[in-house]
Parts: sequence; C-alpha cells; structure tokens
Amino acid sequence: MNRNIVKFPNPVLKKKAKAVKKVTPKIIKLIDDMVETMHAAPGIGLAAPQVGVSLRVIVADIGAGEIAIVNPKIVKKSGKQTFTEGCLSLPGIEAPIERAEKVAVKGLDRDGKNVCIEAEGLLATVLQHEIDHLDGYVFVDRVSDPSLIKHVVFEKEKKEELI
Ligand code: NI
Repeated sequence: MNRNIVKFPNPVLKKKAKAVKKVTPKIIKLIDDMVETMHAAPGIGLAAPQVGVSLRVIVADIGAGEIAIVNPKIVKKSGKQTFTEGCLSLPGIEAPIERAEKVAVKGLDRDGKNVCIEAEGLLATVLQHEIDHLDGYVFVDRVSDPSLIKHVVFEKEKKEELI
C-alpha cells in the first residue's frame, strides 16, 4: 500500500524515532509499504518517519535491490565523500552533503534476523541520510554552508536521486 509522504516541517521529522521491539507482521507491512512508497515516489531511500511512523525502520534501493533495516546502527565508518542530496520530504531543494564514504550498519532484516550491511559510495550516503531521519535530522541540517542549498525544479530523471 502506497502511503503519504510527510513533508518538512512536519514535527515527526524532527523527533527521535523509537526502536522496534520485535519484527511483527505490522512491522513487515510497514516495510513493504515503505518500499512501495519509495518506488512510487520515485526515490532511492525512505525512513519510517517520512510516512508518519516514528519507528527506527529504513529502506533503500539504489538499483541493486531492496534493503530494509530495522533499528539500524552505524558501527563503522571511514573516508569522506560528497553527493548532491535531495529528499522526498523536502521537495524542490538539493545540496551537496559531506558524509562517510564507507559504513557498516547493523540491525535486523525483514525476518527479524541480525544483519550487518557494508556499503560504500551512493548506498553509504543513502543509509546515513535515512538514519539521520530516525534521529530527527534532515539533509539540510548537515550542509556546511546554507548558500549551497539550491532550489530546483525537479525533472523526471532528477527525481530518481531523491532519498
Ligand atoms: Ni530524506
């Protein structure tokens, strides 16, 4: 089921999301809905607060398959990289954001099993962007210089980069 995407400055986006105690059928449904909503947008990542649910769940798909992580935690990071980011909750703006180049993220998968995902490049940026959403941060909170925030009119192909 496609869900509505919450837009900034909805307060749910500034809240610290709660940990999921158990991966129940309700959480699995949330994951499936988030994946559907992300693909429909279209986007390459989505965090539960973006569909109005203040729980620690993220999904991503940069074209190499869907990833869902419950209670994601960055356990390792290294390097630096900058991507121009956008966000489905902040339509019409983008900015270059510096983040770690490589991350290892631990959490639970859709089946409630422990996973550790090692990511680099775009996927590493997407995971950090989505985990930020769980802590109440949006990408513009990470911009080094506010003058770098650009107002853009999204074209179809640009939308593919929205996370
Ligand atoms: Ni976002």
